[in-house]
Amino acid sequence: MKHTLAPLALVIALALAASACAEDDTTTTAPEPIPAGADGATVYQARCASCHGEDLRGTDKGPSQLSIVYEPNHHGDDSYRSAIRNGVAQHHWGFGNMPAVEDITDEQIELVITYIRSQQETLGFER
Ligand code: HEC
Repeated sequence: MKHTLAPLALVIALALAASACAEDDTTTTAPEPIPAGADGATVYQARCASCHGEDLRGTDKGPSQLSIVYEPNHHGDDSYRSAIRNGVAQHHWGFGNMPAVEDITDEQIELVITYIRSQQETLGFER
């Protein structure tokens, strides 16, 4: 009996080890908590910059927030709220899907949208 169970235990151990390595799924790794009292810029750096870039100009994981595509008449604030809460399926670009942003309050969402809008206004849209 012992002999027949040993290989099975090994298979289970290997399967567990393999799943522990599957870290490229960003939705399963808990993000660092946002510091209490953080402003919109801090929320942006904590939750958006890894894909949309520290300078908002995008990375290889996500598009520039200064693209004319994100101009308020094309992507209004509600599309921001929805993207952050529900994620977005890839449709404008080839970066893949945006996962729902975890561990962010409604208040932080409003702060981060205000921050991005003010940056879009200051820096201007890319054409
Ligand atoms: C894991 C990477 C990732 C993170 C983190 C991320 N995004 Fe995105 N986001 C994307 C990608 C990729 C797209 C483009 C999807 C497409 O249109 O092809 C996108 C698209 C968007 C859109 C457009 C939604 C639409 O309706 O087309 C908005 C707005 C947005 N992101 C805002 C944010 C904000 C604000 C944060 C932080 C709170 C954030 N994103 C965090 C990857 C990310």
